[in-house]
Order: sequence, then structure tokens, then C-alpha cells
Amino acid sequence: MIRKIKIIKTIIIIFSLTFPFSVNAQTVEEIIKGRKAMFSENYQNAKKISILLKSKKIQEAKPLMKKISDNYDKLLDYFPENTKEGSKTEALPSIWENKDEFNALMKKASDDMIKLAKAIDTAEDLRAVQKELMWSNCSACHSKFRAPH
Ligand code: HEC
Repeated sequence: MIRKIKIIKTIIIIFSLTFPFSVNAQTVEEIIKGRKAMFSENYQNAKKISILLKSKKIQEAKPLMKKISDNYDKLLDYFPENTKEGSKTEALPSIWENKDEFNALMKKASDDMIKLAKAIDTAEDLRAVQKELMWSNCSACHSKFRAPH
């Protein structure tokens, strides 16, 4: 009888010790997949913006700029310490070694999309202003914080 209780106790202890880790592992995967999905969505929207602006569809492009900006803001919360590896992440360790710089680049990228939405009303060279306020931020961040792919 006492043996049985001991066995049951052991099983309960093992479960309660390993359960939090199994939940955590799933969460890490969800976070990494979540941020990849947001970057992909931003890329799709950035390409759409370029196409729209080529045909001077300025008003149609604006909501997409807001969407990219919002995604960048959300992405600030998608790089917790426990998501350095796994789920084929291309995030480099330099992110966590320079978290302030990384976050500042993310914030700048977000703010620049709002600036872009204003600038296209009056900009003479739409290509140049997109390069300055949208595309340059991708490469500035990737060159230091995303693995070559
Ligand atoms: C402040 C940093 C930062 C900015 C700005 C940024 N990226 Fe990224 N991007 C990353 C990081 C870090 C990853 C790797 C994420 C991972 O694999 O966990 C990434 C991944 C990606 C991916 C791959 C997603 C996947 O499915 O694996 C694409 C596509 C991408 N970025 C496009 C862009 C484009 C286009 C822009 C500009 C419009 C941009 N990014 C701006 C940091 C940034």
C-alpha cells in the first residue's frame, strides 16, 4: 500500500515538473512562427505598396502602410529571451546582445511607415521616398540581426 502511494507520488511529481516545460516549448514555437508570419505579411504588403504607387494609387497604399507599422509595433514583443533558437528561426543572437538597438530599429521602421503615408501626398519621387522610409529599414536590420538565407 505504502509502495503504491510512493509510486503515485513520484508520478505526480514528475508530471508537475515536466508539464510547465512542455507548455513552454509550444509557446516558443508559436512565438517564432508568429513573428515569421508577421514579417512575411509585411513583405507581401511592401510589394503591394510598390505596385500601387507605380500606378499612383496613393490612397489605396496608405492602409497597407499602417498595417506594416502596426505589425512592427507588435513584433517588439515577439523576441523574448527564450526564443533564441528553434522552429528554424533566422534571428541572430546579436538581437539579445543589443536589444535596445534592435528595438530602436523596429520602432524606427514602424514610425517611418507612418511618415511614408504622409510623405506620398507631396513627394515628387515616390520610388526614392519608399526606398528611404521603407526598404532601407529592412536591410539595415537584416544585415545585423537576421541570418543569411
Ligand atoms: C528591426 C528589425 C527588422 C526589420 C526592420 C525588418 N526585419 Fe525582416 N526579419 C527580421 C528578423 C530578426 C527576422 C528573422 C525572424 C525569425 O526567423 O525568427 C526577419 C525575417 C524576415 C522574413 C522571413 C520570414 C519567414 O517566414 O521566415 C522576411 C520575408 C522579412 N523579414 C522581410 C522583411 C521586409 C521586407 C522588411 C522591410 C519592409 C523587414 N523584413 C524589416 C528583422 C527585421
